[in-house]
Amino acid sequence: MTVAPDPVRPVLPSASDLVHAARGLPVSRTPVWFMRQAGRSLPEYRALRAGTAMLEACQDPDLVTEITLQPVRRHGVDAAILFSDIVLPLVVAGIDIEIKPGIGPVIADPVRSVADVDALPPLDPERLAFLQTAVRQLVAELGATPLIGFAGAPFTLATYLIEGGPSKEHARTKAFMYAEPAAWGRLLDRLAVSAATFLRAQVDAGASAVQLFDSWAGVLSAADYAERVLPHSRAVFDGLGSGRVGEDSVPRIHFGVGTGELLPLIGDAGADVVGVDWRVPLDEAARRVGPTRSLQGNLDPAVLLADRATVDREVRRVVEQGRAARGHIFNLGHGVLPDTDPGVLTHVADLVHELSAR
Ligand code: CP3
Repeated sequence: MTVAPDPVRPVLPSASDLVHAARGLPVSRTPVWFMRQAGRSLPEYRALRAGTAMLEACQDPDLVTEITLQPVRRHGVDAAILFSDIVLPLVVAGIDIEIKPGIGPVIADPVRSVADVDALPPLDPERLAFLQTAVRQLVAELGATPLIGFAGAPFTLATYLIEGGPSKEHARTKAFMYAEPAAWGRLLDRLAVSAATFLRAQVDAGASAVQLFDSWAGVLSAADYAERVLPHSRAVFDGLGSGRVGEDSVPRIHFGVGTGELLPLIGDAGADVVGVDWRVPLDEAARRVGPTRSLQGNLDPAVLLADRATVDREVRRVVEQGRAARGHIFNLGHGVLPDTDPGVLTHVADLVHELSAR
């Protein structure tokens, strides 16, 4: 089954509301998609994934295609996001990682020394053929709906490599950053090259936008972020280059959680769109990032577990406050929580479209 083309929508993803909002161009209505829209909130996802490990599923082009399309069909969102994971480039490079259900990525041999940094294997782009097959299949199925490619930012990937798994404080990561600044720089350089390679493969195969997830950057002070992290995130965007030959570069979205104090810097790393969590209202976020970047966000995912009147009130507020931005892509402030009723997501997508129709 393919996504039915809608005759009133544009025929090219590059002319979609998502891409236009990202560039600060006029839109027919506020585009909306949800971080983690593909995943455990959908029964059809759970059925398809049954019996296949997460990282195996990510390397099967037909499964990736089908799982990526599920939320687009169901919710009528304005973008698909590739079904993958931020640790996948590390896995493809040969690092022993497992995604444990309900926990997240677990690394068999965490990076704890300078020698460990220097022993990390590089990512060979030739091993990303499966990813490019999935992207090509998706672009063919999606028609005018843009596909967002993504990668994990160097800092957030470093937290998993150094901690060995998910962590709250990221204390080992920060200790390594302070104690071994040269090795830290080399580690983030390598992760930047790998992220750029991973994004480039997706863009070359036809992705219409990219998102760089620096989910845990909010644990850093602005000074440390600016000095020890931002140059490496910028290197990812620089390494991505201008995009497909003869075309404008695809829009770049840059997102982290708890980044209120970092918002101007997150933009400076090279983003067209700054992703905002629920802690800073979008009108205030627009002041912080300035008039040259669009915003994405920022409904608290927990609101979707509340009553319908609360959901509607909060959606209205986010749409209203988003009008202060150069362009606004409606999203959650972080990923869909697993217990979310998918019907509420469909309702939110419809309501955003209705409230913003021009
Ligand atoms: O729908 C989408 O957004 C696309 C797919 C996607 C996944 N992971 C699939 C996934 C995306 C964009 C990601 C990014 C990702 N992965 C991030 C950045 C975004 C964020 O949430 O901050 C991070 C930090 C990871 C690492 C990771 N992978 C975590 C923390 C977890 C969750 C562990 C859990 O089970 O709660 C994963 C696993 C994961 N990635 C799942 C999915 C659908 C769940 C796996 C399952 O279904 O068993």
